[in-house]
Amino acid sequence: MDRSEINIINIDAYDKLAPLYKERTITTGRYPVLMPITLDDGRQMQFFFIDSTQYNFGMAFVDFLVRKGGLSPLRMLDIGTGAGNTLSYFADGGYKTVGVDISQKMCRIAKRVSPKSEILCGDIFDFPMIDRCFDAITMMSMLCQLPTSDAQNLLARVKQWIKFDTGYIYASTSVEENTEAGVFTKTMLGSTMLNGKSVQRFRTNYTISKFVELLESAGFEILMSSITYDKDQKSNRQFQGYICRVRS
Ligand SMILES: C[S@@+](CC[C@H](N)C(=O)[O-])C[C@H]1O[C@@H](n2cnc3c(N)ncnc32)[C@H](O)[C@@H]1O
Repeated sequence: MDRSEINIINIDAYDKLAPLYKERTITTGRYPVLMPITLDDGRQMQFFFIDSTQYNFGMAFVDFLVRKGGLSPLRMLDIGTGAGNTLSYFADGGYKTVGVDISQKMCRIAKRVSPKSEILCGDIFDFPMIDRCFDAITMMSMLCQLPTSDAQNLLARVKQWIKFDTGYIYASTSVEENTEAGVFTKTMLGSTMLNGKSVQRFRTNYTISKFVELLESAGFEILMSSITYDKDQKSNRQFQGYICRVRS
């Protein structure tokens, strides 16, 4: 299945899901606990063990790290922005923000949620960006929307777009037990139905080790890892998230 076929399926899915995504919020809330996780290659990695309401946990850390080294005006790109919650967090913090999403309905909501942000509607691969332009790039549950080869391709571009010394990226996805890829029915609140209809979308599943491998093999160094300790009520999933910078 090539990307244009995948895009048709995912545009339809996320146009339908757009109203639900508006409800996702950003919290920096409670203090997290560290938990060691052993990867398939035998390495032990420390994860911040956070509750599911902290799905967007890494945002505040990315902001903090960028402010230490970035020069104003700070620029941020959110790929697969959805309802624009991440964008508004950075826009309210004074960043110049750009969000890209392939779903027109998501883009419309994102513009309302983050009016100060520039919203580009379309496939991220169709938007050439200037090299070393961004201080922060976020991809929340976005890389899993692509076949692994396209995710690698996108990360290669992200590596060009992020500022080499002072920029940080944040990537997250759900924690899965297998690495299957294909068109799956989305489950919400334990049900596969949305307004009486099922929503099909393409996704690639990632175990913790496979997502770490994806980021590291693209030339990123992981600085902070987080995992939710309870399952998100809507999707019944745990999430993994990583703050990275370009490996020197
Ligand atoms: C799982 S949602 C995550 C939305 C948001 N980042 C969040 O965490 O709430 C994935 C988003 O990626 C968008 N998307 C999928 N493929 C894309 C592509 N090739 N280019 C841009 N956006 C894409 C979808 O339309 C959807 O809004």
